[in-house]
Amino acid sequence: MKYTSISHIEQLKAKGEKFSCLTAYDATFASLMSDIGIDVILVGDSLGNVIQGQKTTVPVTLEHMEYHIECVARANRHCLIIGDMPYMSYSTSEEAYQTARRIMQAGAQMVKLEGGAWLEDTIRGLTDRGIAVCTHLGLTPQSVDSLGGFKVQGRDDDTANTMLKDAKRLEAAGARMLVLECVPSKLAKEIAEALTIPVMGIGAGVDVDGQVLVLYDMLGISPFRAKFVRNFMADAQGDIKAALQLYHDEVKAQNFPAAEHSFE
Ligand code: KIV
Repeated sequence: MKYTSISHIEQLKAKGEKFSCLTAYDATFASLMSDIGIDVILVGDSLGNVIQGQKTTVPVTLEHMEYHIECVARANRHCLIIGDMPYMSYSTSEEAYQTARRIMQAGAQMVKLEGGAWLEDTIRGLTDRGIAVCTHLGLTPQSVDSLGGFKVQGRDDDTANTMLKDAKRLEAAGARMLVLECVPSKLAKEIAEALTIPVMGIGAGVDVDGQVLVLYDMLGISPFRAKFVRNFMADAQGDIKAALQLYHDEVKAQNFPAAEHSFE
């Protein structure tokens, strides 16, 4: 099976086809996801929650990210690998370049960072240096304390307009992908339609270009039970590989997320 490139994901958006993404942190799952043909693996700093047992992603370090990206990259035979830039590892552009270098050298093909318009120069600088950047708006877990908890974002006109404007500015600065987390479906649709770059949702409804879930949430084995998560393992009678396949098929068929997994 061929490796997936960012250009391939862009082509899927242009054709109106959906793409699937799951988080993974180790070689075994990276190999299973490659067999199935999951389009994108996100080595997310959610590893702080699901691997390390932390309350937030804030304690995750660059060394932790490098270790897990290396584990995934060694076994990957198909998926585009996105590596998260950890908390406060991109607060200046110079710092971001060093962090991105290490994430890419660990085996990622794209880096992801969280935040709005303040990241414009950093994204431009990374893009000029040949690094593909994914941005993340809405509920940004690295800022969960300042957001006042895990809450849906963009529900009022002001915050919705700011999110749309930020998304356009980040795309103009060179971002190649955007994650929208916990955003009302109508706003997520508007943003996905306003941008040329692929928009990947988690709790953002079905009208975006791709979907991502945290692996252990969709397998139903994490204590976390958010509205936007479907337990694919239960639907696949407890077979892990069948659960991953079902997720991939349901995303492609636009059956997931359903209204019950989305926010108004
Ligand atoms: O770290 C992560 O897993 C993420 C997803 C929730 C999008 O950023």
